[in-house]
Amino acid sequence: MDAAVKKKVHRNFTFIDAVTKDTVTVRIPEVVDPSYGMYVWPAAPVLAQYIWYHRDQIQGKRILELGAGTSLPGIVAAKIPNRNNRVILSDAAHLTDCLNNCLQSCKANALEDKIKVIGLTWGQFDPEIVKLESIDLVLGSDCFYDPKDFEDILVTVAYLLERNPRCEFWTTYQDRSSDRTLEHLLTKWNLLCRRIPLWTFEADKDNIADSTLPGSHDIEMLVIERK
Ligand SMILES: C[S@@+](CC[C@H](N)C(=O)[O-])C[C@H]1O[C@@H](n2cnc3c(N)ncnc32)[C@H](O)[C@@H]1O
Repeated sequence: MDAAVKKKVHRNFTFIDAVTKDTVTVRIPEVVDPSYGMYVWPAAPVLAQYIWYHRDQIQGKRILELGAGTSLPGIVAAKIPNRNNRVILSDAAHLTDCLNNCLQSCKANALEDKIKVIGLTWGQFDPEIVKLESIDLVLGSDCFYDPKDFEDILVTVAYLLERNPRCEFWTTYQDRSSDRTLEHLLTKWNLLCRRIPLWTFEADKDNIADSTLPGSHDIEMLVIERK
């Protein structure tokens, strides 16, 4: 069935600064469908909350989201008031429904003229990635869900960080099995990884941004950079 005729629901996420009471609300359309890039995954509000809590670090930045799907983190980065971040959303070049979902999320937040959506398949060096301008920050929520893709994701990240030496990769993933590890691949691709405790940005809760989505899932927040 075409994504255009699938049932859609909209979910609102409101991020609040407990001290300043600043808020940002993001509206995300989801397709009620089992396909994985069509709804918000539990790791996404956690990454979006990290972005919101570290918004002072991302002013006027060029930000690329990988495997964006419904694009909550990228949309939050674009919507932070007075930050003028330039966001590019990406998903696999052949997954047109997922790329369409990125566009729908832009539209739901009146950002379709400000955000670019591109097809970018992990581990592939198509013209879209080769001709990218400089990037300050790469985002990725729940990209590490299928171990067969882990190296392709890190190859793409290593390439982007090599081209943009001060760039970092901020990523969340859902720990689905203790025997999955990134350590050997990080070493192979000359990358360093910092694990960020969730409590440091108040993401150790069942409810984030008015959403119970993270629930009891075991979510990790990582900052990956070049060695
Ligand atoms: C588990 S979903 C996470 C979606 C979204 N980031 C979130 O957290 O809600 C994984 C995403 O990766 C995308 N994806 C899968 N394989 C890919 C590939 N080879 N290259 C780029 N993106 C891919 C999917 O289309 C989907 O949007």
